[in-house]
Amino acid sequence: MLAITFFGILSLSSSCAGWEWGKSGKWDSKQRTTCHGTESTINYTTISGFFQQDDSTTDSKSFDYTGTNFGLIDRSYPTDDEFDPNGEKTQWERFEYYVDTLNRDCDRNTQYKVLFMARHGEGYHNAAESYYGTPAWNCYWGPLEGNGTSVWRDAKLTEAGIAQCTKANTFWSHALITEKIPAPQSYYSSPLIRSATTANLTFNGLKLPADRPFAPTVKEFFREGISMRTCDERSNKTYIQNLLPAFKFEDGFTEEDELWKGYEGETSEAQLKRTRTVLDDIFSNDDNTWISITSHSGQISSNLKVLNHITFSLSTGQAIPALIKAVNIRKVDPVTTTIQSWTAEATCVSPPITSISGQGCVCSNTTSAVLATATATTSPA
Ligand SMILES: *[C@@H]1O[C@H](CO)[C@@H](O)[C@H](O)[C@H]1NC(C)=O
Ligand SMILES: *[C@@H]1O[C@H](CO)[C@@H](O)[C@H](O)[C@H]1NC(C)=O
Ligand SMILES: *[C@@H]1O[C@H](CO)[C@@H](O)[C@H](O)[C@H]1NC(C)=O
Ligand SMILES: *[C@@H]1O[C@H](CO)[C@@H](O)[C@H](O)[C@H]1NC(C)=O
Ligand SMILES: *[C@@H]1O[C@H](CO)[C@@H](O)[C@H](O)[C@H]1NC(C)=O
Repeated sequence: MLAITFFGILSLSSSCAGWEWGKSGKWDSKQRTTCHGTESTINYTTISGFFQQDDSTTDSKSFDYTGTNFGLIDRSYPTDDEFDPNGEKTQWERFEYYVDTLNRDCDRNTQYKVLFMARHGEGYHNAAESYYGTPAWNCYWGPLEGNGTSVWRDAKLTEAGIAQCTKANTFWSHALITEKIPAPQSYYSSPLIRSATTANLTFNGLKLPADRPFAPTVKEFFREGISMRTCDERSNKTYIQNLLPAFKFEDGFTEEDELWKGYEGETSEAQLKRTRTVLDDIFSNDDNTWISITSHSGQISSNLKVLNHITFSLSTGQAIPALIKAVNIRKVDPVTTTIQSWTAEATCVSPPITSISGQGCVCSNTTSAVLATATATTSPA
């Protein structure tokens, strides 16, 4: 009897410190709120000093993760002495051990995850934007289905885009075998074809550990910022499922795209809000540490903002890793603010003369401006 009580206390106290080895922990929203007796929120921070991409002196335009061991910085970690006294482990093995100890040793309101965020390879919409130039793309061509030879509604990958994915696959193959990078434990993808296909081409056929198979889940909120352009309309669930039979869908994923409108676009505030929702969802329901997300340039920028990471823009086919610390905190500012979710963008009924930042499209036909005040100079992804 005495012994049982003693062990009871022991196991209780050990369950209060840290997480199971190799896991980062998770909290559902009820747990999070109960802990503080009031509404809680997750405070995300990017821990810098581990990847070249979290250093503001790194030039994102010329950076290629495939030539730099994913940007992992050659350095020592406080755990090297205990884990690798003879200096035989790779940089990734030592980093993995260090991150595992962060989760083991932290309190239960804290978790650490490493996110591998990849942008899709070049799609037909990217090729068309380059071909026509951004003003003509945003003001006229983007809202159309295609131009007769190319189709960019839920754009597919171009040959160049497929080649970028092959390059990514070669990178992962080498990194897994030689650099001993930890294989992702969970995979998430945008529902848009260009990203889902990129995830498949990148990870399909790799020699992955048996307990870490490539079993991606499609999440609606990892889609690109929802502009009026047809490249941001997703296909129906049946179509995606037929194209990528092994992809799973998150609960509640609708058959049809219920978000894309075609006449209004999502505001960046609305995009940030849903980004927080999807990241909170992952940190609440997935206790894996190593997580792959295949998404879009605009959406990854939005992730980086929520994660308090520095700005780092990705070219097509590029990817960025980040070490994230998440802390369950009491909600500080319960003040509710209303945000504008949708806004109309400028378009023309024929190819425009140009577009001016802050003013919008300059249509060749003065009667054809749908909305002259919106700006049309932001790049799609
Ligand atoms: C969130 O974490 C950062 C970094 O640890 C800290 O500076 C900041 O004060 C935290 N925010 C809140 C609201 O606790
Ligand atoms: C359609 O756009 C592509 C670039 O995306 C271009 O190569 C092609 O020539 C265009 N087709 C027509 C009919 O203009
Ligand atoms: C789904 O989309 C495909 C391709 O656009 C279309 O052919 C099919 O009829 C749609 N299926 C349903 C169930 O709506
Ligand atoms: C990836 O694509 C291949 C070929 O289309 C398909 O056989 C495979 O099931 C796909 N993988 C997933 C995870 O859906
Ligand atoms: C403006 O565009 C409309 C529709 O394309 C066309 O019918 C009209 O003639 C054009 N007007 C001028 C002044 O070019």
